[in-house]
Parts: sequence; structure tokens; C-alpha cells
Amino acid sequence: MRIHAVDHPLVAHKLSTLRDERTDSPTFRRLADELVTLLAYEATRDVRTETVEITTPVTATSGVRLSHPRPLVVPILRAGLGMLDGMVRLLPTAEVGFLGMIRDEETLQASTYANRMPDDLSGRQVYVLDPMLATGGTLVAAIGELIRRGADDVTAICLLAAPEGVRMMERELSGTPVTVVTASIDERLNDSGYIVPGLGDAGDRMYGTA
Ligand code: URA
Repeated sequence: MRIHAVDHPLVAHKLSTLRDERTDSPTFRRLADELVTLLAYEATRDVRTETVEITTPVTATSGVRLSHPRPLVVPILRAGLGMLDGMVRLLPTAEVGFLGMIRDEETLQASTYANRMPDDLSGRQVYVLDPMLATGGTLVAAIGELIRRGADDVTAICLLAAPEGVRMMERELSGTPVTVVTASIDERLNDSGYIVPGLGDAGDRMYGTA
């Protein structure tokens, strides 16, 4: 398991506005979308490609294109859905699967309520979208399912991560082909399982239910 916190002034700028409690839902959605595209650029550094022969108006040459099988993008419902457009903007040919996971606010345990993914993920590169890596329970469960189905390269893109969640991922997913790309590793989790300083409830802020 590898973690990569993207250090870039545009990422820091957008993230600060996203954190601000005065940012309204439409602005939050737009900024989250832009931030995901920036994170996706980093996250796809090792996306698999193959060489193709092309002809420019001037000469024949070789280039690259994304190889088959196509990458799979899996937003974790509900809040991960707000990250999908920003991701497929960079990977328009990706296949999209869906995982619905909910965490019990008392036990903080994650359980699956929807699962629409290909059964066989052998040889597939998978990008999982979940805005908040808090306790790590949701991502560990989701990535465990992807690896059980045969995925051999999984990258999770998270707007924010808590050190507690990173430690759980490192413990539970050590030795697996998993990378986490995030805009920030924050200070800690509070007693209610929220990331501090964080940005509050990502789903509520995205969909205006706060
Ligand atoms: N989920 C959220 O939406 N926010 C947090 O701070 C933690 C988990």
C-alpha cells in the first residue's frame, strides 16, 4: 500500500475553498470536480498504455493509447458519485462500476448495500473514488472486494485522508497493489469519526442536505 499526498498550489487552493463552511453546494460540487481531475492526473501516472502507429499530416510515427482491458472506475455511493465526472473527463473510455457502502454512525462499520461491478476483474486496473478516507473501514472493505474479484492494480482517489485511516489501510492492505492519492492527510479523526480540520460531511455538502 502506497500513499501519495499531492503537493500542488492549485490543489491546496481548491481544497481550502472546499473546506470553508461558507462554500455553498453548487460551488462545492464544482470545486470537488476540478480537484478530482487534478488528483486523477497524478493517480493515472501508471495507467497502462500500448504503442500504436499513427500518421500525422507530416509523417508516420508511433504514439500511445490506453490499453485493453479498459480501466474500471468505481465511485463509492453516495459521495463518490460527485467525483465521477472529474475522473471520466480524463479517462472517457473507462468502464464504470458502482459500490454502495454505508457506515454505521455509531460503530463506524461499513456495509455494502449496492454492488454493480464486473464479476471478473482479473488483470484490470481499478480507480476507486471516495472523498473521505476517515477510519478506513469503507475503503478497506471496497478494495478487499475488488482484489477478491481479481483486480491487480487499485488506486483510491480521496479528497482528504485521516492518519487513522491511512494506518488502517497500511495494516489491512499491506503487500497489496494499492495506492491512495489524496489532496491532504489531515490531523486526526474526532470522536464522531469526522476528519479534523476536514470539510464536514462530504455527501451533505455536495448534495445540499446539511
Ligand atoms: N465522511 C465525511 O463525509 N466526512 C468526514 O469527515 C468523515 C467521513
